[in-house]
Amino acid sequence: MRQVPSYLLIGCGRVATHFQHYFSLLKLPYETWCRQEPVSQLEEKSQQATHILLLINDGAIETFAAQYLANSKAILIHFSGSLVSERIHGAHPLMTFSHHLYSLEEYQQIPFVVDHDAPDFASLLPGLPNQQVRLQKSLRPKYHALCVMSGNFSCILWQKFFLELESEFAIPHTIALPYMQRQTQNLCEHPMSALTGPLARGDEETIRKNLQALDSDPFKKIYESFVACYQDVKKAEEGV
Ligand SMILES: NC(=O)c1ccc[n+]([C@@H]2O[C@H](COP(=O)([O-])OP(=O)(O)OC[C@H]3O[C@@H](n4cnc5c(N)ncnc54)[C@H](OP(=O)(O)O)[C@@H]3O)[C@@H](O)[C@H]2O)c1
Repeated sequence: MRQVPSYLLIGCGRVATHFQHYFSLLKLPYETWCRQEPVSQLEEKSQQATHILLLINDGAIETFAAQYLANSKAILIHFSGSLVSERIHGAHPLMTFSHHLYSLEEYQQIPFVVDHDAPDFASLLPGLPNQQVRLQKSLRPKYHALCVMSGNFSCILWQKFFLELESEFAIPHTIALPYMQRQTQNLCEHPMSALTGPLARGDEETIRKNLQALDSDPFKKIYESFVACYQDVKKAEEGV
């Protein structure tokens, strides 16, 4: 018979808050600890735990485990996309977690990208019905760089657009939502033909005018580097 898991979730940040909520929705029992609480409570709770999730800053995970969990017999797990650890298994939830909680259905749809040498998923995160894929640990840095560029960098661009529609043109940002939603939908349905605009068309005159309009804007550098990057990718594809 499978052992009933006893989870300890460490941290009080965004991911810890989301996973406390998810575990509650799944009716999975768990304990919590964050660094505002006495260390004596951490010692007590970590002795009872079968699974400890280190949901804290990437840079603090290894030192925290070495300092407080060196003698723990629990399975240690981190959720970082980039950290490569010998002792702590990586299970990266491929999702963005902000300050607003999600529904049970949304949590259940989150895939986990798990270290190739971690225990099977039912032993690693017992009770979670999520799908998993395995990744060689050595590939984590590149994998995470791609996550950051796609999710986080595009977020910065949309935030700039929304903000400046309102502040410079007095247009409510909601006007741009159908554009963003259609761009997203096209990416979901036909990812390889979703790019339109002057780069896709090779329209140099429009690119020149766009750059001129961004003359004193820090995002001009972004535009220029996208143009250079896109040209390099095209040349590589054409074998030039
Ligand atoms: N947010 C996302 O979208 C996302 C997605 C996938 C994976 N992850 C991963 O999830 C983990 C947590 O990220 P997050 O977004 O939840 O970060 P966060 O909101 O910034 O929260 C970080 C938490 O770590 C705690 N902490 C920092 N240094 C610590 C230390 N030395 N000892 C003990 N606790 C410490 C903080 O405590 P204080 O509040 O006291 O500072 C806070 O509770 C990271 O490994 C991250 O890579 C995040």
